[in-house]
Amino acid sequence: MRRTAAISGVLAVALTVAACGSDSSGGDDAAQQGADSRGPITYVQGKDNSNLLGPMAERWNAAHPDEKVTIKEQSDQADQQHDDLVQHFQAKDAGYDVVSVDVVWTAEFAAKGWLTPLKDKFALPTDGFLEPTVKAATYNNTLYAAPTSSDGAMLYYRSDLVKTPPKTIDEMWSMCDIAKKNGMDCFAGQFAKYEGGTCNATEWMNAYGAKVVDAQGKPTVDSPEAAAGLKALADHYKSGDIPKQAITYQEEQSRASFQDGKLLFLRNWPYVYNLASTDASSKVKGKFAVAPLPGVSGPGTSTLGGHMAAISAYSDHKATALDFLKFLTSPEEQKTNMEKGSLAPVIESIYTDADLVKKYPYLPTLQESIGNAVSRPVTPFYPAVTQAIQDNFFSAIQGQKTPEQAVKDMQAAMQAAGG
Ligand code: GLC
Repeated sequence: MRRTAAISGVLAVALTVAACGSDSSGGDDAAQQGADSRGPITYVQGKDNSNLLGPMAERWNAAHPDEKVTIKEQSDQADQQHDDLVQHFQAKDAGYDVVSVDVVWTAEFAAKGWLTPLKDKFALPTDGFLEPTVKAATYNNTLYAAPTSSDGAMLYYRSDLVKTPPKTIDEMWSMCDIAKKNGMDCFAGQFAKYEGGTCNATEWMNAYGAKVVDAQGKPTVDSPEAAAGLKALADHYKSGDIPKQAITYQEEQSRASFQDGKLLFLRNWPYVYNLASTDASSKVKGKFAVAPLPGVSGPGTSTLGGHMAAISAYSDHKATALDFLKFLTSPEEQKTNMEKGSLAPVIESIYTDADLVKKYPYLPTLQESIGNAVSRPVTPFYPAVTQAIQDNFFSAIQGQKTPEQAVKDMQAAMQAAGG
């Protein structure tokens, strides 16, 4: 008991220090440099699964011939994207002008002084944006990034085989017979040891009533509820309802399995909707639909995902970079990303546009998913926190640790992360 209190005390102190002393690296000074300067910029983002970046750059470049954007595409794995950005920030690389920031990195990057605060000369209007996207881009009451796409997970299901999608997790398991009869796997999410694993793990623990952290950010994951969430996954992994290879699945592998017609139910982000409908190789065109994730006694909740664009403190062309942020968040670009890539817009009114809803019937489900989504812990020490979640979730699902031991170790590692 006393030991736990002492450790969380350290976490609290460490959080405060990081929050106040943001600039050991001279970030604020750096952030002011180039406030009026214009010129070519580079935009760094994770893999463009839906081929949106090329046409976007062409539209920008046509209108800004002297301030062209060059795209640098990173890998499709969130953790690798993070590490690449950290390396370039640490090197004060002026070549990374605008970077795509996952919602879970705001606190860390802002506390390190790596992002240009979007205030004063850099103020960026966010009227009409979905509230969770603005919140995720804000740290210590300052906006640090422009929300560019939100993310809320949904349950993709084979509507040719399942007439009414399951509302509860148990209902879903009871439908695994349908998968068996059709020689398919029943359910998968992203169960590899990486950031997507953290998203899935927190969803399952939250579904069973757990809170990963409390309102003050203190870890509270060592609970029977969190253990129950991990146990549900471990039990159904053991029984085969979740296929053995699912512990290697990231977003793309799980999408491939669903698109190949091998999976009855898939937990994934909205980008899958477009690709599963349009990919030449998709075997499930017109044979799938989406529903809210199932929960214990009714619909469940997603972990909040999403991305934002931030101006590096080390960019030499910050005035151009700010215009680029405004361009990315414009209604036209947001609508294009939705129509061509089923990315979740950050502008609220797009979700209720009657014509769009008619054309893209998943929009209300997506809006609901984002509206109810639960954030991952907000802390400058997020890399160590997510590691604590991933490692223990990964051991628990394979039965290498009991769920009880896994949440105990998870909590201890999260507390240690703060020190
Ligand atoms: C999606 C989400 C992001 C999350 C990642 C995990 O890209 O938008 O927030 O961290 O998936 O793989």
